[in-house]
Amino acid sequence: MASNIAGKVVVITGASSGIGEAAATLLAHRGAKVVLGARRRDKLDRIVTQIRDNGGEAVSQSLDVTVQAENDEIVQLAQKAFGGLDAVFLNAGLMPNSPLSALKTDEWHRMVAVNVNGVLNGIAAVLPTFIDQKSGHVIAASSVAGLKAYPGGAVYGGTKWFLRDFMEVLRMESAAEGTNIRTATIYPAAINTELLDTISDKDTAEGAQSLYQRYGIAPGRVADVVAYALALPPDTTVNEFTVGPANQPW
Ligand SMILES: NC(=O)c1ccc[n+]([C@@H]2O[C@H](COP(=O)([O-])OP(=O)(O)OC[C@H]3O[C@@H](n4cnc5c(N)ncnc54)[C@H](OP(=O)(O)O)[C@@H]3O)[C@@H](O)[C@H]2O)c1
Repeated sequence: MASNIAGKVVVITGASSGIGEAAATLLAHRGAKVVLGARRRDKLDRIVTQIRDNGGEAVSQSLDVTVQAENDEIVQLAQKAFGGLDAVFLNAGLMPNSPLSALKTDEWHRMVAVNVNGVLNGIAAVLPTFIDQKSGHVIAASSVAGLKAYPGGAVYGGTKWFLRDFMEVLRMESAAEGTNIRTATIYPAAINTELLDTISDKDTAEGAQSLYQRYGIAPGRVADVVAYALALPPDTTVNEFTVGPANQPW
């Protein structure tokens, strides 16, 4: 391909584990300058140290995506540490699935706060820079739950379905407005990460664990997709990727 990711400055939300950690590690290995955000500082510090020990460039900041000011600050950190911002991977998310009848309303609202409002905050933080420089790449972690409904996933699926619409409209508007903001929405299936840890409903947790034990693949597979999207030439966008275990019926 005519383009590559070396030198690109990339902010990654939810970079302290799973897909975000794998993306940060891979992109840094390919020469990107990565800016890691999440709430668990100790994990971020460990990942940044590892990246630097391997010759990569990385910085990090405590980030709760539900707080607009912290999203703004991580963009400022990218500009201060690396002189600009080329892309953002909006990856932070959680999946405490349960049947609606369990009425776990706190978990419903938490998912909306992080998976929807966190994305809105992240977009609001990067858009002024991307519009100003007439370029930018927004990559977001949706889910196969954003493509297909399944029992237990009403709220999580809704938050991921939201991303499908939101990212497509972002792409259309930026094309119409000539701001050259590219989008890539990723729809992963079962990927072995810490995602299941927030499921408090016992039956749902057991079902998910057995599905992931049977089919789950490594988060690096999704990181490969992020790297592919970022490396596309500036005149090209591949805006949707579904990725998962070859043997998972979904
Ligand atoms: N694993 C899968 O099978 C799968 C499938 C489809 C889609 N996805 C999506 O992929 C994304 C990454 O998940 P994962 O599978 O890698 O799970 P994970 O290992 O649990 O990672 C989730 C990340 O989100 C961060 N996070 C959670 N709440 C946050 C907040 N309020 N502010 C900032 N960061 C927050 C966590 O960091 P802290 O706790 O340190 O803040 C963590 O780094 C999620 O959006 C998920 O929905 C995953």
